[in-house]
This record gives sequence, C-alpha cells and structure tokens, in this order.
Amino acid sequence: MEGEGECSDNLFTSVMTLTKMRVPHVPQRYVLPPSQRPNLTLDLTTTLPIIDLSTLHHASQRSLTLDTIQGACKELGFFQVVNHGIPLPVIHDALAAATEFFNLSLEEKMSLLSDNVHNPVRYGTSLNHASDKVHYWRDFIKHYSHPISDWIHLWPSNPPSYKDKMGNYAKAVQVLHKQLMEAILETLGLNFGNLQKEIEEGNQLMAINCYPACPEPDLTLGMPPHSDYGTLTVLLQSGPGLQLQDNKKKWLSVPFVEGALLVQLGDQIEVMSNGQYKSVVHQVTLSAENKRLSIASLHSLPINKKIGPAPELVDEQHPVSYNEFSFRDFLDYISSNDIADKRFIDSIKKSV
Ligand code: OGA
Ligand code: NI
Repeated sequence: MEGEGECSDNLFTSVMTLTKMRVPHVPQRYVLPPSQRPNLTLDLTTTLPIIDLSTLHHASQRSLTLDTIQGACKELGFFQVVNHGIPLPVIHDALAAATEFFNLSLEEKMSLLSDNVHNPVRYGTSLNHASDKVHYWRDFIKHYSHPISDWIHLWPSNPPSYKDKMGNYAKAVQVLHKQLMEAILETLGLNFGNLQKEIEEGNQLMAINCYPACPEPDLTLGMPPHSDYGTLTVLLQSGPGLQLQDNKKKWLSVPFVEGALLVQLGDQIEVMSNGQYKSVVHQVTLSAENKRLSIASLHSLPINKKIGPAPELVDEQHPVSYNEFSFRDFLDYISSNDIADKRFIDSIKKSV
C-alpha cells in the first residue's frame, strides 16, 4: 500500500495516519477475537473513589483520608485525586504539547521511532509494532523523565514548547508520586523513610498516548488488559475511555473528572505489600467520534533495584508470595513475551 505513513521497510503505520486516510473500517490486524472485544456500554453505577489530597496536610483529616486510600487500594487498586497540587494550566499545557506532537508530520515523528523497549525515548504504535500479533489503536511517545536533566535533551524538539510544557508537568507529577507513596506506605504500616531515597531516585517513564477516533470501536482496543509494572501510575486523560477490573474481574468504566488525576497501583506495590494490595488491570476503549489523549506517568524504584515483599509483611500466615524483580527485569520480560498473553506479575508469583 502506498501513501503517507506506510513505510515499506518496516511496515510501520501509525493510527494517526489511518485516521487521516479516513479508513472506513479498521484493518484486519486490529480486529480482536470476539471474546476480547470491549463492552462499550458498561453502566456507571459504581462510584469510584475520588480523594481530596489537600486533606492529607491537615492533621485532623489525615487519618480519615488514609483510611479511604487504604480501602481504595484493597478493593480496586485505583482512585482519582483532586486538589493534588498540580495547577490546571500545567495540565492543559502538557495535553496541548501532546496534541501538537501527534499532529506533526509522520516524517518528523519517525526520527524517534524505536521498537527497542530499553530505549529511554521512543515513538511507536500499538504495544510494539514490530512484534504484536494483534495491533492496538494507539500511537505513543515514551520518555524517561527523572531526573529531568538526564533525559530532557533526548525528548522531542518539536513542537518547540514540548520540553518546557511536558517538563513542568513531569516535575510536578514526580513530587505528587512521592506524596502518594508516603501515604500508601503508611496505610501498609511501612516506614517511608526506609524507601525515601529510592523513591526520590526512582525511574519515571512518561507514556504519552494518542487514541484517535476509531471507525469500529467495538472491534478493537487502544490498549489490551494489563497492569503497570511500577509503584504507581499517575494518569492524566483528556476524556473517558479507561476501563478497569474490580476484584471480581468485572469491568468498570472510569468516569472523566476535569482536572482530576487517576492513581493506579502497579506490580511493585503488589509485590512490596506481599499481595495485600493488587495492581489494577486496566484497558483502553475507543470512541467513534472523539480522539483521546492520555499522559501516563509510570513510576518505579531505580531501574536495577530488586523489589521483594517487605519483611514486615511476611509471617507464618503470610509467607513470601512473590520473587523479587526490578524494572529492568520487567523490560527484559516484555522484550521476549507478549503481555497480552501473560501478565508479568504471574511470572514472579511463587507457587504455594
Ligand atoms: C498505560 C495505560 C491508559 C490510558 O500507558 O500503561 O494504561 O488511558 N494507559 O492511556
Ligand atoms: Ni497501563
């Protein structure tokens, strides 16, 4: 096939390109088997927790808020936060930078194309265009972001305001992650001080995702069911589309709350907590009318740091349930395994 975006040497086609071509149907490689297709009409009867983070700074309210966070972590591994300290203009600027980046010509974006998951900056589509059996309706740019001075020179230099706008947001989310970790470790009865340095020196990978309107949203997904590998993911979204699985494996749609940020527990928290908390399984659905952008800030402890269950949470009734792993182990796993087939966390669970 000819046309902008079809690159014959590696068959790379972005979904932005398909959208520009106004394809009336999704190409066959995006069509999921019927059992994996989404239910786009889930009811919103379940109210998902929304937590006012300003209450954490008030001694009289802190313990009640920690109880709410603990409940959300136990039941869902997910909550939304408001009054999180990141100003709305910073949020809008980050989304604007993302919009402008994906609107660039394909040629411009291709300079950052990579299918190597170990690269600190890479543009791509689906999960990994080079190896995916089924493709997902997503384009992305991912970049390491902390400490920002180590990485920002590798970020997109177009649009010209990208580094500034995304950088301001990245720095603010890094601060928020630390506050959230302090709260969550407290709910587990763990000492934040013991991990503070590793949290401060941890890895921050920002995944900026673009899900253009899709001609057949009932046949495909923007991302398949998965959990994130790290401690926490802080997700900013421009509209609805995220679904998560509750502890009965029932899918719930996450309502869109302007200015709120979504917090998702990742595999490192599940392991650290020795299974008291579970990482949340989530997927992304599409819309026939609207493009959706999201900025997922995936935090983890330093790339080579092996994380195992906290000794304080292990006893005779609660034996060690997971093997240790580092972010690097996860990257090695996804370079040779399809996470749509088998979750990473299942590969490190100890058999009982
Ligand atoms: C991710 C992710 C969700 C979204 O990047 O890991 O789950 O809404 N993103 O884009
Ligand atoms: Ni995710």
